[in-house]
Amino acid sequence: MTAKGARAVAAKVLSTLHGGASGSLGNLLDDHRERPDFPLIQELCFGTCRWFPTLDALLGTLLSKALKSKDADVRWLLLVGLYQLRELTIADYAVINESVEASRSLKKPWAAALVNAVLRNYLRRKDAIEAQLAEQESAARYAHPQWLFDALAAQRPDSLAAICTGNNARPPMTLRVNLRCTTRDDYRELLAELGINASLGHCAATALILDEPCHVDELPHFREGWVSVQDEASQLVPALLKLDAGHTVLDACAAPGGKTAAMLEAQPGLRSLLALDSSAKRLARVSENLERLSLAANTVRLTATDAGDLASWWDGAPLDRILLDAPCSATGVIRRHPDIKVLRTPEDVESCVVSQRTLLAALWETLAEGGLLLYTTCSLLAEENEACIEAFLDATADAKSERILADWGVECLASDGRPLGRALLPTDARGPDGFFFALLSKSKNH
Ligand SMILES: C[S@@+](CC[C@H](N)C(=O)[O-])C[C@H]1O[C@@H](n2cnc3c(N)ncnc32)[C@H](O)[C@@H]1O
Repeated sequence: MTAKGARAVAAKVLSTLHGGASGSLGNLLDDHRERPDFPLIQELCFGTCRWFPTLDALLGTLLSKALKSKDADVRWLLLVGLYQLRELTIADYAVINESVEASRSLKKPWAAALVNAVLRNYLRRKDAIEAQLAEQESAARYAHPQWLFDALAAQRPDSLAAICTGNNARPPMTLRVNLRCTTRDDYRELLAELGINASLGHCAATALILDEPCHVDELPHFREGWVSVQDEASQLVPALLKLDAGHTVLDACAAPGGKTAAMLEAQPGLRSLLALDSSAKRLARVSENLERLSLAANTVRLTATDAGDLASWWDGAPLDRILLDAPCSATGVIRRHPDIKVLRTPEDVESCVVSQRTLLAALWETLAEGGLLLYTTCSLLAEENEACIEAFLDATADAKSERILADWGVECLASDGRPLGRALLPTDARGPDGFFFALLSKSKNH
């Protein structure tokens, strides 16, 4: 990449976002982490994605004709410019000068006049344009893609504004304290001595929420495994799955291993834990995580395979516990991955639903009678959550969805009152991610 300044690099990165395995913002930013101006590049990219639907609507009113697809970098440069003018405290003249300069750095000198004119035009008409936007109950106003806004409006009308506001917030950095190394209170004090303030989690007994994010190397004993970075919602998994010493456990979609580690920390006496993931590359991260936490014991086995292909991994011995942390639209973690607003499509959701149903049906065969399967997603959408569970229950005579009684989240019920699971909505900027849990038990007598 030849672009020099932070704005030009941000525009280039954003114009190469794509839905493939390597096309996410996090992956594309990896090439630039060594640059001294990386924090600014990261801020510009994350912020522009976070507000993309709004910025794109504004740009539509400011451009007299759409830019050609070969000039996607110029379009993104304009969006990055609007983001700075709307959301950051950088002086307007500096934003305009740097953006004009960036068009030259992108080797598009012809765009300098356009960039200058569009950004100045926005500043001139700002009050009227913004007032018009604020009047509408629209996807653009709430900075959500239209299809997702429509789905949330239909499925969660009462929480729509709060969910959208939560999705647009910057996420907290949350730690999971390894209670085998220290207590949550002691670790909190240790942090306070270093000037790192944290509050207790809202729903998980292991969670500490930092007031401000920090680098993991600033966290005492991080390298020795005293704490891990993990949202509170994921920390709820071990208790919900009722893990006991001697259990045989399957973690069907395990990478990068956050929940694998949480389960092993919570119950070190498991007979065995098999962690599967279809991506060998991602599975390598499970090994790294378990090694840091000294959890790579001989009870744990990692296998890169399709969990739905039972012949490739199952020896026929029924499992006591299964975690199916299913591949999903990730619409509950948009605040952490705002590029979802740019990349995700309704077709992606449909293909996730197919995988979810296939995996659930296949894995059910491997669960012991009397065993429990915890189905989780970080999706907000009913079709990936309660509707998926309802369809499964209707088709599976020996399956029952257990009520999850808790003082967090909202219970999801079928129209006949059957429990279908519990959802966490990301409505609190310091609360947990959007997440869904369904606990399924197997018995001949259901
Ligand atoms: C939500 S992520 C899992 C996160 C993980 N449980 C954790 O807590 O760190 C879903 C994972 O499912 C994997 N995956 C997708 N389809 C799969 C399949 N058919 N079999 C096994 N893994 C699959 C993806 O590679 C991805 O790593």
